[in-house]
Amino acid sequence: MNTRANRALETLRGSPQLVLPSLLQCDFGNLASEIERLEAAGIRALHLDVMDGHFVPNLTYGMPIVAGLRRRTEMPLDVHLMISRPSRYIQQFVDAGADLLTIHCEIEEPVDEVLDQIRETGIGVGLAANPDTAYESFSQHLAKCDLFLPMSVNAGFGGQEFNPVALDKLRAARADHPHLLLEVDGGVNLSTIADCADAGATLMVVGSAIFGQSDYGTAIDGLLAKLN
Ligand code: DX5
Ligand code: ZN
Repeated sequence: MNTRANRALETLRGSPQLVLPSLLQCDFGNLASEIERLEAAGIRALHLDVMDGHFVPNLTYGMPIVAGLRRRTEMPLDVHLMISRPSRYIQQFVDAGADLLTIHCEIEEPVDEVLDQIRETGIGVGLAANPDTAYESFSQHLAKCDLFLPMSVNAGFGGQEFNPVALDKLRAARADHPHLLLEVDGGVNLSTIADCADAGATLMVVGSAIFGQSDYGTAIDGLLAKLN
């Protein structure tokens, strides 16, 4: 039982819609002030994009950044693992302070076993799928999850164009597994966020539509206004 992670999951479940900034395009040279700016702009949870340069052709950060963020904020840390062999690092990310770990169904390890491994730590369990991965190929795993994340871009980079195939997967998961938190990630902006909500997503991961703007509050308010 991880009480902090359970509290984080309740925060994620208890909100009709949340915008989660994707910590990929933020200013890592001023991470503490970035978190303060985001909290002041009304953000209530963070999406951390961990990449290993193997599962995706990009390399970002690992446990030290998660631990550093944990020391700075009580906000839920929603950690998106874009890494090939996550089983090696689950406990380290939990120890660093992750509240939810999302693995990809395309990994080089038995997905069910890694989902079980995360579950046994007491934090939230998420499964992500790239746009080209068919829903039928992984949907059997969703019953074990707290969260489903159909990617609306190919994992690896911010600033890509939204792929609506994620909307079909959101609708299918909403019908098949009403218990799931539904999250969408990639190309979510003023033009696409309403469609994501209509398809069932309540957790909206946003990168460039926030970090490409000078005022985070205005950017986030504009996104949320599209949902009301
Ligand atoms: C991509 C990441 C996304 C991305 C979102 O692999 O998982 O979180 O950073 O950035 P935008 O919103 O710019 O597509
Ligand atoms: Zn992400």
